Amino acid sequence: MSSTSREVILGVGAGIAAYKSADLLRRLQERGYSVTVIPTPASLNFVGSATWEALSGRPAPTQVWENVHEVAHISLAQKAGYFIIAPATADLIARIAIGRADDLLTNLILASDVPKMLVPAMHPKMWNDPATQANIQTLRNRGFIVMDPDHGRLTGNDSGQGRFPETARIVENFDAMTGHKQDLRGKNVLITAGGTREAIDPVRFIGNKSSGKQGIALARAAQLRGANVHLIAANMDTSYLSGISITSVESARDMQAALNLEFTSTDILIMCAAVADARPVQKLTEKIKKAFFTSIELEANPDLLAELSVTKTNQVMVGFAAETSNHIESARSKLTGKGLDIIYVNDVSGGAIFGKDVTHGTILLRNGEEIALKEVSKDALSDVLLDHAIRQLG
Ligand code: C5P
Repeated sequence: MSSTSREVILGVGAGIAAYKSADLLRRLQERGYSVTVIPTPASLNFVGSATWEALSGRPAPTQVWENVHEVAHISLAQKAGYFIIAPATADLIARIAIGRADDLLTNLILASDVPKMLVPAMHPKMWNDPATQANIQTLRNRGFIVMDPDHGRLTGNDSGQGRFPETARIVENFDAMTGHKQDLRGKNVLITAGGTREAIDPVRFIGNKSSGKQGIALARAAQLRGANVHLIAANMDTSYLSGISITSVESARDMQAALNLEFTSTDILIMCAAVADARPVQKLTEKIKKAFFTSIELEANPDLLAELSVTKTNQVMVGFAAETSNHIESARSKLTGKGLDIIYVNDVSGGAIFGKDVTHGTILLRNGEEIALKEVSKDALSDVLLDHAIRQLG
């Protein structure tokens, strides 16, 4: 799977079924896909940009003339892992078949060679017209996945083949095209992410550089593989996630309380969060005056993983470590010391990895195996870690 494979372009053609694509967008997001909607200009007569932008949380441009400096028809095309065009109207299908590039969507389709799926919806007479059928054949010959429309009642009184298929069937076909595994269906995956903050006074805290990106990548990878995902998020933005249950926490002890609530029903726990090792003994309710802000007395935080491992039943436990020296040695002692099944150790010397989309490090397993990963995306690492966790689940 490429690092960008969860980036999907949802092209919306000018058919009445456009409103059904709002639900399709939601279902794709729930499966962990990041979706940019590119409507054709005429489709805005059915569903307006505001709907697409609100639901996707992203701009929904229609023309190459918007934000020209960003050269959107190339940058969006390069980012996309897959296209799904739903509904694909007779006119849009014809334009794609002859290679027109008269709006942003058709430009993107030409500028990208990733897998593309079309979900036609139109009146049966238009669907059965030899011109449409010839265009469909052309596109299938070029490798497009083209779904057959459903039979049944159409917008008017007539019926026949031309209906927009049920969303569940579209998603099933889309998953088949992307090859996403559903090997975590029914499993509960608990992930901690971000960095805890330990309050010194009402305005200051002890924190760390964790951005939460790796935890989000893990949550979305597990979601994409069918898991019920619960994310315990420490001090990070989760507003754009959907279909994932989220508990927002601040300190290590908040995180511990959230973990205790979820742990017994968990199949796989991934402790990706950077937990502060210590906290101020006193949390003051008044801001400390500058003149007195000279030293902070600390006490140790509980080791959340080590404490959970004592109560562990069948849970697979995965930890993270960030080291600047003796990576493998220290990680191996954390693997055993914290009762883990798997640990991933990042080499964070020089501040590397924090806030970035790529990581490099080593996965250590209990059987002594070591898997070194050089410059992988956080998405790709997530899938490799989940592969190992699933193996341990049996
Ligand atoms: O000990 P260190 O912080 O390097 O260990 C990293 C792993 O242990 C991470 O998975 C982190 O989430 C977890 N941890 C914990 N409780 C702490 C500190 C770290 O569970 N107090």
